[in-house]
Amino acid sequence: MKKQSRKVVIAGNWKMNKTRPEAAELAKQLADVAKAPNVEVVVCVPFTNLETVVNEFSLAAVKVGAQNVHFAKSGAFTGEISTDMLCELGVQYVIIGHSERRQYFGETDATVNSRTKAALDAGLTPLMCIGELLEEREAGITEEVLARQTKLAFAGFTAEEVCKTVIAYEPVWAIGTGKTATAAQAGEACGFIRGVVAKLYGADVADAVTIQYGGSMNAQNAAELLAQEDVDGGLIGGASLVAEDFKAIIKAAVDGN
Ligand code: 13P
Repeated sequence: MKKQSRKVVIAGNWKMNKTRPEAAELAKQLADVAKAPNVEVVVCVPFTNLETVVNEFSLAAVKVGAQNVHFAKSGAFTGEISTDMLCELGVQYVIIGHSERRQYFGETDATVNSRTKAALDAGLTPLMCIGELLEEREAGITEEVLARQTKLAFAGFTAEEVCKTVIAYEPVWAIGTGKTATAAQAGEACGFIRGVVAKLYGADVADAVTIQYGGSMNAQNAAELLAQEDVDGGLIGGASLVAEDFKAIIKAAVDGN
C-alpha cells in the first residue's frame, strides 16, 4: 500500500492551554475547515474544554480528542478520566504516552500499552506517542529506543488493533524547542518505526498504519515534512494554538495528498 492510500491525520495538541472562552474562540476560527478526502483534522484539548469544543464542532469536519485516558473502566483513581467519560462527550481521539506525560507524570511503556488498549476497546482512536531523547539520539540509540517503545506499546495487540492506532513519532528534543527534525530525519525515523511494525505484524499492517511526525511542525516546514513517504500527518503543539498557522498546516496536508 502506498502513502496515498493511508489516512493522513493532522492533530493539534493544545496541551495545558486555553480557558473555556478562549477554547470556544479558537474552535470558532477552525470550524470552517473543509472536509477533505483522506485527511482527518483533530484537536486534542484539555479535559475542561472537551464539551465546549465538541459543541463548537458539532457541524464541522474537525474531530475532538483528549490528551490522556485511564485504563480502568471506573473506580478509585483520583484525578483520572475514563474512556466512557470521553465517549459519552463525543470525543473520538486520545493522545497517549506523550513525552511530557512520560517525563513529568511517570508514564511508562507499560501504562502506554494499557491506556492504548483501553482506548481501542472503547472505540477511541489512540494517537500513541513515541520518541527518543536528545541524549539517546546523540548516543546513537534512536532506533533501539523506537523499537523498544513500539514493541512494548503494542505487546499483546492484534493486527487489527495496531491498524486502528495512529503512531506519533515525536523526537523529544524537537518538542517546543523550535528545533525541528529535518524532513529526512523525520522520514527516516517514521520509516524505521514502520519497519518495526512490519517485523511484528507483516507488511500489510505496516503499510496501513498511520505514522505522524510531531515536534515544532509549523506553517513553513509542514509541506516538506508531510511529503516524506513514511510521514502520514502531524501532531502539532504550539502552531495549533494559532488558527491561521494550523489551517496552513492542514492546507499543506490536503495539497500534498
Ligand atoms: P510543538 O509543536 O510545540 O513542538 O509540540 C509538539 C508536540 O508535543 C505535539 O504533541
